[in-house]
Amino acid sequence: MRTKLIAGNWKMNLGKAESITLAGEIRQKAPKTTKSQVLLIPSFVHIDAVAQVVSKSHLLLGAQDVYYERSGAFTGEVSPEMLLEIGVSHVLVGHSERRHVIGETDAVLNKKVLAASAEKLVVIYCVGETLEERNAGRAAEVILHQLKTGLANLSHDVIAMGHLVIAYEPVWAIGTGQTATPAHAQETHAFIRARLSEIVSPELAGQIRIQYGGSVKKSNAAELLSQPDVDGLLIGGASLIADEFVAIIQAAEGV
Ligand code: 13P
Repeated sequence: MRTKLIAGNWKMNLGKAESITLAGEIRQKAPKTTKSQVLLIPSFVHIDAVAQVVSKSHLLLGAQDVYYERSGAFTGEVSPEMLLEIGVSHVLVGHSERRHVIGETDAVLNKKVLAASAEKLVVIYCVGETLEERNAGRAAEVILHQLKTGLANLSHDVIAMGHLVIAYEPVWAIGTGQTATPAHAQETHAFIRARLSEIVSPELAGQIRIQYGGSVKKSNAAELLSQPDVDGLLIGGASLIADEFVAIIQAAEGV
């Protein structure tokens, strides 16, 4: 049984006071979950403030990115150790906005996956095709390439410890209001799991959680989560509204 992971990616939104308020509301209103883990992913500068709010609660804390070196002359970057020290347990790597807006390469993303997982952070490695790639019938090829390059040389121990999560986020569904249908999400998640079986092993692939992301709302969360290979959600816009996010957490408990 794979524990579902419900994550709110706040992206580059919310000031300090707003971040504290949102985390506080979620802490107060979110049910103590039994079937799922709940993860908040604020912007870097407000992680520490949010850490104080979620301390000693059932809420987990994540970062939206991480660098692959331990320390040194890497202006503007943040190391895995720095994140661990302030209570971060999970990091996003390869979010589509990092790939397509910031321009991170496959080689850089692989280094981040390896460095963060070596420091025992749980890596949420994001994959997904653009609309152009989808229309050209290349979605499967693109996702396979992202899996193979991003996870190259990853130790099987990391996966056995549950420290690798995959997030399928079709770029055409992010922030567009256009969600993948539950059937489409299931089909792609099953494809990802089948490829992971080949890349690692069937046994380990069966343990890896695969989240769906892209215009998830309280109105579509339960149906997405009821798909057998949808093991959680990575939520952008709806995670900025406490009641929406809490309703999604409740939906995960009901599935
Ligand atoms: P939206 O839920 O706003 O579409 O964003 C999805 C996403 O990119 C989460 O990482």
